[in-house]
Amino acid sequence: METVRVIRTVREMHRVADRMRENGFRIGLVPTMGYLHGGHASLIRQIGRVTDRTVVSVFVNPAQFGPGEDFETYPRDFERDKAIVQAGGGTLVYAPSTSEMYPDGYATYLEVERLADHLCGASRPGHFRGVATVVTKLFAAVKPHVTILGQKDAQQAGIVRRLVRDLNLDVDILIAPTVREVDGLAKSSRNRYLTPCQRRRATVIYTALQEGRELVLNGERRASVVIDAMNRRVRRCPDLGVDYIAAVDAENFRPVEAFGARVLLAAAVRCGQSRLIDNIVVETEGQPVQELR
Ligand code: PAJ
Repeated sequence: METVRVIRTVREMHRVADRMRENGFRIGLVPTMGYLHGGHASLIRQIGRVTDRTVVSVFVNPAQFGPGEDFETYPRDFERDKAIVQAGGGTLVYAPSTSEMYPDGYATYLEVERLADHLCGASRPGHFRGVATVVTKLFAAVKPHVTILGQKDAQQAGIVRRLVRDLNLDVDILIAPTVREVDGLAKSSRNRYLTPCQRRRATVIYTALQEGRELVLNGERRASVVIDAMNRRVRRCPDLGVDYIAAVDAENFRPVEAFGARVLLAAAVRCGQSRLIDNIVVETEGQPVQELR
């Protein structure tokens, strides 16, 4: 079988994107940092249903890692990534080098105000500046008609949606549901760092989120009570450190005091050298108070 094409430079990416557009193809972009897993594969498959050509970018973006974070040790396996792109029906992999993306003299960064003030924006200063910058650069290089982002990184998706609107970029955005392991842990490239024991403990993140949701669906509307319950659940587990456990407005990511129409329960938990994030949306509007199963 022919292997998937790899493009390394902005110049070539422009050329190929222009040709695809001239041929009338609808281009989809799946931005990733590689070390692809089932979550990424589902994004590739889903966007393939609405596009003619799917570009998967693989770029570990230094601009979104803070000092002391895991940029150097972020897992990488390019051969395996290519095979996953190919199996998912992807057309090509765009994998520029760091110096191609940020050559000497590079000086332009994009800041999305307010949406980045909470959750990961607060615990990882500068992170979303790096994400917003690289995603905009990827759009400029790949010229996609449509892109797809995972709900697992809900704040990131909200920020990209905002910047596309604010900068009048002509890119449609799809949001894909979180793909989980059978025990509920959200699939993540960073799960790879977990020891077997940490891996077992990490399932508590999703358990706590579900517990929070059940409390709300059973009638509890005070955010502090729900957050306390989730905190207790996670802190019962040895070796886990809570970065944040929060209930925020699903649109603007500001903390809420009471549960309203659409609230995001979000958690970031340190487990060994990994920082794992997950979230679920809780919708209460028009929802009768439900019984626990
Ligand atoms: P990365 O963590 O590789 O994720 C790439 C895309 O896959 C993101 O849209 C993310 O939300 C989605 N994704 C990750 N795990 C998922 C899961 N379990 N289920 C569904 N989708 C999942 O997010 C990034 O890279 C970077 O910040 C990037 C946007 C590429 C910018 O550098």
